[in-house]
Amino acid sequence: MKESLFGPENITIKSREHRPLMLDRQERYGKGYVADERGFLNFDPSCEDKNYFKNKWQKEISNVAKRMNGYISILKDNTPEYSQTVSGLIQSLGRIPEPEEVEREIYRQNILRQAYQDEISIDAERMAAYRESEKNPQEEVIKKRAGDFPAPEKALKAFRDGRVRIVTEQGVTRLYITVPNKEGKEVDHPVMTDEETQWVNDSAEMIKRSVKDPNGKVFIAGLGLGLLNEKLDRLGVKNQVVAELNPGVIELVGSHLKREHTDLNLDIRQGDFKQVLKDAVAKGERFDAISIDAFPNTAEEVNRDASNDDVLSLAWQALKPGGKLTFYPDSRYIPQRILNVLTKRLHIPESAIHYTVSKFNVSDFTKRYHYGNLMSVPEIQKPVLNDADTLKEMKEEYFKKLEEKVKIILDQEIKFKKAA
Ligand SMILES: C[S@@+](CC[C@H](N)C(=O)[O-])C[C@H]1O[C@@H](n2cnc3c(N)ncnc32)[C@H](O)[C@@H]1O
Repeated sequence: MKESLFGPENITIKSREHRPLMLDRQERYGKGYVADERGFLNFDPSCEDKNYFKNKWQKEISNVAKRMNGYISILKDNTPEYSQTVSGLIQSLGRIPEPEEVEREIYRQNILRQAYQDEISIDAERMAAYRESEKNPQEEVIKKRAGDFPAPEKALKAFRDGRVRIVTEQGVTRLYITVPNKEGKEVDHPVMTDEETQWVNDSAEMIKRSVKDPNGKVFIAGLGLGLLNEKLDRLGVKNQVVAELNPGVIELVGSHLKREHTDLNLDIRQGDFKQVLKDAVAKGERFDAISIDAFPNTAEEVNRDASNDDVLSLAWQALKPGGKLTFYPDSRYIPQRILNVLTKRLHIPESAIHYTVSKFNVSDFTKRYHYGNLMSVPEIQKPVLNDADTLKEMKEEYFKKLEEKVKIILDQEIKFKKAA
């Protein structure tokens, strides 16, 4: 039985090197990965065996049929989780799925929960470590950086007015913003480095899979070195709205982008990205994808900058149905606190939540603001279908079709037995 994403809070397993199952899958099936209609890269056995989930489903039907009649009512009434997966998938796809697609979705969600193990049992230790593993190193980073930031009421102005410099050392390019801390001491904030290129590129490819309309528009919070903009441009995502707080960054990086990428439709709006996004929503602007990679402005925002309730729900309003949200998660997973906001407050079905795992080049520089070399690329889809009545009808239809399919399989089994 699947366990809820919201497990007990008092888990004591600590695992700094805890490894996402998603990464295991990526490494195992990497070359044969497939993107489904949602654009999610699924690293699963169907990469090697196209009929894996179809066969799995048929086998299950036969097994259950041997033991009892009425498989359908068991699915429908006795396993609310199965029924929930069907609902979520309908919302995400905007159509009725096939039973093998539901099997595949169950498999995907289990990997996301760190819960898949040989199809037999759920690895409770892994799940527990998943919930716990990021907490301790994150707290160390938060502690280390506590004195670096200005007082909250002065933070936005300080980061807006901070001095900007771009430095290339031993082939690595880095962006610093210098800002006074609470005591007035000037502190260098390492804002962006091209050691994070793989993560940026993976984010860009994910966004590209989500922007299906050639005229689609993306919203990017935080210009930094403009790496995401450049990669998106190379992938053909040309309509980009950027919110950037610091005019110095806009002058240095924005002007470079405009010079070097002449067919890029780059609309840079100076200001705090939350305000810029609010204004866009108020004007009725909606985006095919949103990337939030601003930088913490206060000590309280370290590890929390992109992912508090207000930011996530604002981004949600600004997305088109079927559009995607991604952000800098500061975690190799989608952290539990973010999952809580997504599923409990925004009521996003699990079928709309995905991530892949990327790698950083670890250096003393990157260690100043995060830990380890793994970083997830979260991928949150705004469901295509939001109408409750249509969802109900489609779900009824799914179970009706399922029943018909099961009957055919069972009839064949009976014939086969008789013949034998
Ligand atoms: C990590 S960098 C972005 C990196 C960028 N995605 C890239 O690919 O190079 C963060 C940027 O967000 C900007 N920033 C910080 N706080 C912000 C805020 N509240 N609103 C808008 N931009 C902000 C910083 O000035 C910095 O340029």
